[in-house]
Amino acid sequence: MDDNRLIDIRGLTFAYQNGCEVFRGLDFSLYGRERIGLTGPNGAGKTTLFHLIMGLLKPSSGSIEVFGKARKTEDDFIEVRRRVGLLFQESDDQLFCPTVEEDIAFGPLNLGKSHDEAREIVRETCGKLGLGGYEKRITHRLSGGEKRLVALATVMAMQPECYLLDEPTSGLDEATSRRFLDYLLAYAPTYVIISHDRELLSRAVDRVYLLTDGTLRVLH
Ligand SMILES: Nc1ncnc2c1ncn2[C@@H]1O[C@H](COP(=O)(O)OP(=O)(O)OP(=O)(O)O)[C@@H](O)[C@H]1O
Ligand SMILES: [Mg+2]
Repeated sequence: MDDNRLIDIRGLTFAYQNGCEVFRGLDFSLYGRERIGLTGPNGAGKTTLFHLIMGLLKPSSGSIEVFGKARKTEDDFIEVRRRVGLLFQESDDQLFCPTVEEDIAFGPLNLGKSHDEAREIVRETCGKLGLGGYEKRITHRLSGGEKRLVALATVMAMQPECYLLDEPTSGLDEATSRRFLDYLLAYAPTYVIISHDRELLSRAVDRVYLLTDGTLRVLH
């Protein structure tokens, strides 16, 4: 496999247990330093594709290679989850600690950082996303947009090698979306963004794929 190919999916077939078939023979690649947009109608399978890449769902056939290695077992995906940052479509799926600082520190602590290092990462990440002063706030009492930003912060605090961002700016106001975009452009060289926001895509990605009827094609 090309050394620069971070994600390589071949012939992916997947159906949910209720029989809802989402993919039959899907191919997809993401190269290092590539910024891709993924769009398509509701229910097309965009979120499902991200969950398959992270090993949260298992394909019925086809291959998923990430960082040059075939990923099949739960153990295979532990490394994927450490090195690929998934922003869930629903912030509540991402946030599970009582306070903002605990949620953001969780990943770095899990990676073996000390409490002092984790505290510094929390401070820095909050600063970059305009979340300074939010550290002690109770996560479940935040507004939808605030939760979105904290969810982003938890992903960014892991300093992943590539990001899978599922509708990252949904619920964010214009100024906050812009701040988020500035952050991505400055610090995240490789990502896939699922979005219906054409303006965001035109500024944030090099190429947009359209997912319809289980097939990906380049839109522009
Ligand atoms: N847990 C599930 N069980 C059964 N079917 C599911 C499940 N999750 C999703 N689906 C179905 O799989 C298809 C793809 O869903 P998915 O959430 O991946 O779409 P999406 O492109 O992300 O849509 P949206 O733009 O609305 O977020 C849809 O038809 C959906 O109803
Ligand atoms: Mg979705």
